[in-house]
Amino acid sequence: MGVRDKSMKTDRSDILTCLRSSEDYVSGQQLCDRLGVSRTAVWKVIKQLKEEGYRIESVPSRGYRLVESPADAYSESEIASRLRTKWAGQRLIFFESTGSTNPDAKRFAEEGAPRGTTVVADRQTAGRGRRGRSWESPAGRSIYFTIIVRPAFIPDKASMITLVMALSVAEAIHEVTGLPTGIKWPNDIVVNGKKVVGILTEMSMTPEMNEIQFLVAGVGVNVNQESAEEFPEELRGAATSLKIESGRHFDRAALLAEILARFEQDYETFERTLTLSELKERYESRLAGRNAVVRILDPAGEYTGISRGITETGELIVEKETGETVLIYAGEVSVRGLYGYV
Ligand code: BTN
Repeated sequence: MGVRDKSMKTDRSDILTCLRSSEDYVSGQQLCDRLGVSRTAVWKVIKQLKEEGYRIESVPSRGYRLVESPADAYSESEIASRLRTKWAGQRLIFFESTGSTNPDAKRFAEEGAPRGTTVVADRQTAGRGRRGRSWESPAGRSIYFTIIVRPAFIPDKASMITLVMALSVAEAIHEVTGLPTGIKWPNDIVVNGKKVVGILTEMSMTPEMNEIQFLVAGVGVNVNQESAEEFPEELRGAATSLKIESGRHFDRAALLAEILARFEQDYETFERTLTLSELKERYESRLAGRNAVVRILDPAGEYTGISRGITETGELIVEKETGETVLIYAGEVSVRGLYGYV
């Protein structure tokens, strides 16, 4: 496990950050000055990074230059060195393997971890999905992370955070991969009709149950699975990965950093109004099945209607065949396309 925050700076991620931010050589002295460590400390870290597969050129009169990171480097320092956020992920806890990052994050939150604390795992042995389902979480393929936020508003508004996260992740994936990401309301992300991202948000309330103590948003992104066979049999028709859809391999640390940067911005926008008013247009532009017929799987009875968008508080607006407009609240029902998942 690696823990990083402002008071426990790891020289490794700081040195990587400095090297990564410069195309040119960075002198040993510059590194010492910027990080406040000795020449020997810098040299030791560089040696260690080289042993781990980082290609770093050292030229006596010029200094160091990062030529290449090891393929799919995914570690606390690799992720931290790519962060450009103020608070999201600034405290980073990385596990090679854990049960599930959601209960881990809840535990850290209960111990007082600040907003933005992020738990990342390369593998989960008891990954959780929504509605009591499990989330297959093998090593070396996907992104699994959970971020803590401490919103100062009433629990009613909490479900909107899932939509905020869905928007941030959908746009981050589009930015990094160029793939056309859609959001299946409220918070699944789909590419070409198949799911690539799931989000599980959980909340802890004050003992009086009138305020949120903290909220954790757990995100699973299928990144580098090579083929559908890597998914459990029952999901093969509905799940996909960024690699399957694009034929390209993606750097998980870079994608995670992009997600955290966007989430930080979108969350701050949301916090200003405590509605989705300033994010709604972007969310709706990615809403899968917008203006198309959807099936509403309501425990009280299934019906069809046309999905028209979302309200400023995140409900799905559906126009029934009778002309009546209904608002669908997340958690109550599932929404499906007329012929399948989307
Ligand atoms: C879904 O069912 O669609 C939600 C899946 C959420 C998976 C993520 S992976 C990181 C975090 N840890 C978990 O155990 N679940 C969430």
